[in-house]
Amino acid sequence: MGPFVLLTEKQKNVYLRIVKYAAPYKWIIALSMIASLGVSGSDAFIAYLVKPFVDELIVAGNLSLAKLIPFMVVGLATIKGLSRYVQSYNIRTAGQLAIQDIRNEVFGHTIKLSMRFFTNSSSGSLMSRILNDVNVMQAALADVLVTLLRETLTILALTGYAFYADWKMALMAFVAIPAAVWPAAAMGKKIKKFSRRSQDVMGNVTSVLEQSFSGIKVIKAFATEDQEQQKFAQENLGFFTLIRKTFRYSAATAPVMEIMTSLGVAAVLWYGLNRVAAEAITKGELFSILAAILLMYSPLKRLTTVNNTIQKAIGAAERVFEVLDNQAEIVDAPDAVDLPRSQGYVTFENVRFAYDDELILRNFSVQAKPGEVVALVGSSGAGKSTLIGLLNRFYDPQQGKILIDGHDIRGLTQKSLHASLALVDQETFLFNDTIANNIRYGKPDADFSLVKAAATQAYADEFIQQLPEGYETQIGDRGVRLSGGQRQRLCIARAILRDAPILMLDEATSALDTESEAMVQQALGNLMQNRTTFVIAHRLSTIMHADQILVLDKGEIVETGKHQELLERSGLYSRLYDAQFSE
Ligand SMILES: Nc1ncnc2c1ncn2[C@@H]1O[C@H](COP(=O)(O)OP(=O)(O)OP(=O)(O)O)[C@@H](O)[C@H]1O
Ligand SMILES: [Mg+2]
Repeated sequence: MGPFVLLTEKQKNVYLRIVKYAAPYKWIIALSMIASLGVSGSDAFIAYLVKPFVDELIVAGNLSLAKLIPFMVVGLATIKGLSRYVQSYNIRTAGQLAIQDIRNEVFGHTIKLSMRFFTNSSSGSLMSRILNDVNVMQAALADVLVTLLRETLTILALTGYAFYADWKMALMAFVAIPAAVWPAAAMGKKIKKFSRRSQDVMGNVTSVLEQSFSGIKVIKAFATEDQEQQKFAQENLGFFTLIRKTFRYSAATAPVMEIMTSLGVAAVLWYGLNRVAAEAITKGELFSILAAILLMYSPLKRLTTVNNTIQKAIGAAERVFEVLDNQAEIVDAPDAVDLPRSQGYVTFENVRFAYDDELILRNFSVQAKPGEVVALVGSSGAGKSTLIGLLNRFYDPQQGKILIDGHDIRGLTQKSLHASLALVDQETFLFNDTIANNIRYGKPDADFSLVKAAATQAYADEFIQQLPEGYETQIGDRGVRLSGGQRQRLCIARAILRDAPILMLDEATSALDTESEAMVQQALGNLMQNRTTFVIAHRLSTIMHADQILVLDKGEIVETGKHQELLERSGLYSRLYDAQFSE
């Protein structure tokens, strides 16, 4: 009942889904409900007291009652105040607890979604859902439950009393009320529409922010601050335009209600005075019923704002649930087995793959034995990084299979698969954390001596020691900045410490100075020892030592062999070699 009257079936389901998150806190909510009885009861009792007040005290002049009145006023106010406190504090706590759960669940769910989801959605929009939208949902749980509970009970108590005092007059009063609710319903719909759209735009605003701050170097270098500022101002304006539309409706809701109610009150007053004249009720009863109706006014008004809040919250919840309803594309098969530490056999068998429609890999096959280095060469966009993504199971191939030690990777648990893999990516991503924790990232329980050993092998120990706090130095947004080569060596140290039997290197293309280059090269040499390595090579030195070089073109292997053989064939490889490596 109550505001649910104004919700469509679909909205009701969304709301019930929000409310489910409150279930674990039902006892806190129950306590709050009990307290709200105190609030509603006090209001009904005040209306009830009007009758003896008018009939005995004013009409009959029985002054003995007068002494009691101050005590009653203070007593009722105290009971109502205390009840309201207990109720309000508890329901908000419950609401916030539920919100915390939702936020954790949404993040936990999102981070487990497959790569395709992340390439298709902007991080700004995701952040806006987890932060802003969940916040808006909080209103549905806390504010709404507070108001819904208390005000509905108050109205029920007052209604009950009014009918008890004089049902005819009460009936008359309640014909006017639904009339006041319907215009509010139409407005609620508009509010919801615009608030959903404004949240979408807020996602764009977040996106511009996020992009500007992470791409600040490019912005500065191209001196496009003004352009970014305009872009931001435009999104910001878009948000304002939409949010103002919601204000138009939400600001009108209360006045419209007020006017409708005044019509109702006028009608009731007219009818009531007639009833008194006909001696069907006493003056005390007339005022008492009027008091009940007037006391109903503000709860009723709050209930309509509840409707608006619910509409907004449902809009936000739909966006949040949209994320939650995304199913991970890549999941462990029900009968998936754990891969024991891999020996290092990797086979691609006739792999065919497309992200969407366009075929990226046609018929890709390769076999790598333990300890071998397989170098992937090919022009940009040939599908090299894609292959590494497939081995990581970021995506599954449409045809063919990938085997590790003879097991199809689709039959392995992802956890055990990834335990055998280490990736050093093109983008050297480091977390806002200490150097030590960044190296330890793939093996959080590794003790310091291992961290240091890995850093030493990665030729990183020396520069780390020169940092202000050594291994405990914070890096990233909140700490020191590192050079490109230093970042790469940290990523290599991370992979060394992980000590996985299969290694994937997507070599950074960024040119390093000769000294740094030499150190990265030696670090890579240490890393590749005794591991099966797939390397997307941009450095000649890496390729020259490869056991197999695969030359990719348009999704197919066009040449294979060792460096010298391929050069002599004077095909694509020798052309790429001339373009990329020779001075
Ligand atoms: N997530 C994606 N969704 C759709 N298409 C993609 C995606 N990632 C890459 N592609 C496309 O797949 C093709 C192969 O991309 P890939 O990243 O594997 O190239 P690459 O060989 O690693 O190139 P580079 O040497 O420039 O790193 C490209 O045409 C690219 O546009
Ligand atoms: Mg690539």
